[in-house]
Amino acid sequence: MSSDTKRAIAIVACVVVAGVLVGCLERPKQAQAPAAIAADHMAQWKQRNPDQANRWVEEERERHKIQPPADNSPLLKAEQGKSHVYGNYSERDVLMWGRETEKLVVEGSRIFHSADRLGGTIGVSCDMCHPDAANTHPETYPKFQAQMGRVALLRDMINWCIQHPVRGKALAPDSPEMRAVEAYILAQRKGIALDYGKH
Ligand code: HEC
Repeated sequence: MSSDTKRAIAIVACVVVAGVLVGCLERPKQAQAPAAIAADHMAQWKQRNPDQANRWVEEERERHKIQPPADNSPLLKAEQGKSHVYGNYSERDVLMWGRETEKLVVEGSRIFHSADRLGGTIGVSCDMCHPDAANTHPETYPKFQAQMGRVALLRDMINWCIQHPVRGKALAPDSPEMRAVEAYILAQRKGIALDYGKH
């Protein structure tokens, strides 16, 4: 073997060994990668498929009875002149209002039915005592609640039940969870007349 050939073999061997070493060093990094890759793929997929990304709304509606928001399409049949309040809106806008409203209500349903999302410590969710939000009577608020010794809003009573039967921590009144649960409870009483203060 000429010395040139030997040198060439030595160089190739060095490159292979270096490659293996780098591969070994990189392995720990690769072990963490799948979760990040999956999250990245999911984000890209959601961007490409906005409709399917809202599947959670359909799924929750299949699981639980949820009242639909009002149908505002008759607004569009009215005079569409510039002076009309809804004059500048389209069918797409009306569809979007309904979908966005429904999404908040459906998110509320998911929290209402989940001890984990409510921060409960004993595995109890709202639906165990209030199936489909029964007996939550949002239409009677504000009203005096003897156990609080003051006039309560609906959210105060939601927090009372989170702290007592559910054994969780009270939600901030403007937290996304409180807003969603309140929206869901109100939505479920669609069509019931308001009667604040009623016991
Ligand atoms: C273990 C059963 C139980 C669970 C679980 C429960 N509640 Fe209650 N809830 C009650 C009882 C009992 C009352 C009546 C309390 C009273 O008026 O003194 C009540 C009252 C209410 C009221 C007021 C009803 C009215 O007539 O004014 C609301 C609103 C409410 N609950 C919401 C919730 C929400 C939201 C959850 C989940 C975070 C929840 N509850 C979980 C038992 C429960």
